[in-house]
Amino acid sequence: MEKFVTYEQIQEAVQAIRQRATIPPRVGLILGSGLGGLADAVQDATAIPYPEIPHFPQATVVGHAGRLVIGHLESQPVMVMQGRAHYYEGYSMAQVTFPVRVMQAMDVEILIVTNAAGGLNPDFRAGDLMLITDHINLIGMAGLNPLRGPNLDQFGPRFPPMTQAYDPELSDLARRAAAEAGIPLREGIYICLAGPSFETPADIRFLQQIGADAVGMSTVPEVTVACHGGTRVLGISGISNVAVASPGETEEPSHEEVLEAAQLIVPRLSTIIRGVLRAL
Ligand code: HPA
Repeated sequence: MEKFVTYEQIQEAVQAIRQRATIPPRVGLILGSGLGGLADAVQDATAIPYPEIPHFPQATVVGHAGRLVIGHLESQPVMVMQGRAHYYEGYSMAQVTFPVRVMQAMDVEILIVTNAAGGLNPDFRAGDLMLITDHINLIGMAGLNPLRGPNLDQFGPRFPPMTQAYDPELSDLARRAAAEAGIPLREGIYICLAGPSFETPADIRFLQQIGADAVGMSTVPEVTVACHGGTRVLGISGISNVAVASPGETEEPSHEEVLEAAQLIVPRLSTIIRGVLRAL
C-alpha cells in the first residue's frame, strides 16, 4: 500500500512541535548530507529529535543528525531540519516530504533547501556551491511524484504549475550575499534520482545530455510540495564530488567523500544563507 499523508497527521505533528517551541517560524531550512552545522548556530533554540514528532520520517543516514531546531538565525524565526529522510531509505515520496507540509501548516513562507550533489557540469569542482535555478524531476516523470494520491486541497490545487519553482528574488538575494562575501556561486539545474546507488558513467553522460548540472537523491520532491503549497524556495547544492563520465576516469564516489567535502562547503554555504536571512 502506498503511504500517503493526511491533513490530520500533519496537524498532529504541528501540535507536538508547538507544545515544545513557541516561536512561529517564517523560514524553513533543510540541511543536507553533512551540512547540518548551521543548525548549531540557531539562537533561542528548541531542538526536537525527529522520533519525538508524530509521523515525522526518521533520518537514518550518517551525516543527518535527525533533529528539528526552532529559534532565530540572523534575527529571523527559523525552523531548521538538521538532516532529512530520502526515498531510498524506504519512505514513500509523501513521507519524505511530510516535513515540508508541517512547515506549511506552521505558516512558513520561505523554504531554503540544501543538498550535497555530484557535479555533472564539466566546469564544476568538488567544494563548489551551485544556486539551483531549476530542476529536472526525472523520478517524478517516472511516477514518483510526492503529490500522487488524494490532493491535499488545504495546501494547493491538483495540478500545480512548476514554471518558477525557484524564486527569482530569493535567488538574487543569494547571488548578492555570495558576491558581498567574495564567495563564487555557480548556477545550474539539479536532477534527482532515487538512489542509493551512484550513477554509471553511461547514466552520467545521459544526465549531462539532458541538461543537468548537478545530480543528487533529494530536494526535488520537497520543492514540488513547497510549490504546491505556495512556499517560496531558494535551493543551493554543495558539489561534493565530480561525477565520473567515463569508466576509470577518476576515483569512485563514496558517502565518506560526500561528507568530507561537506565540511569544506558548510562555512561558505552558511555565510550565504546568513546573508539571505539578513536581507529578508
Ligand atoms: N550522485 C548522486 N547523488 C549524490 C552524488 C552523486 O555523485 N554526490 C552527492 N550526492
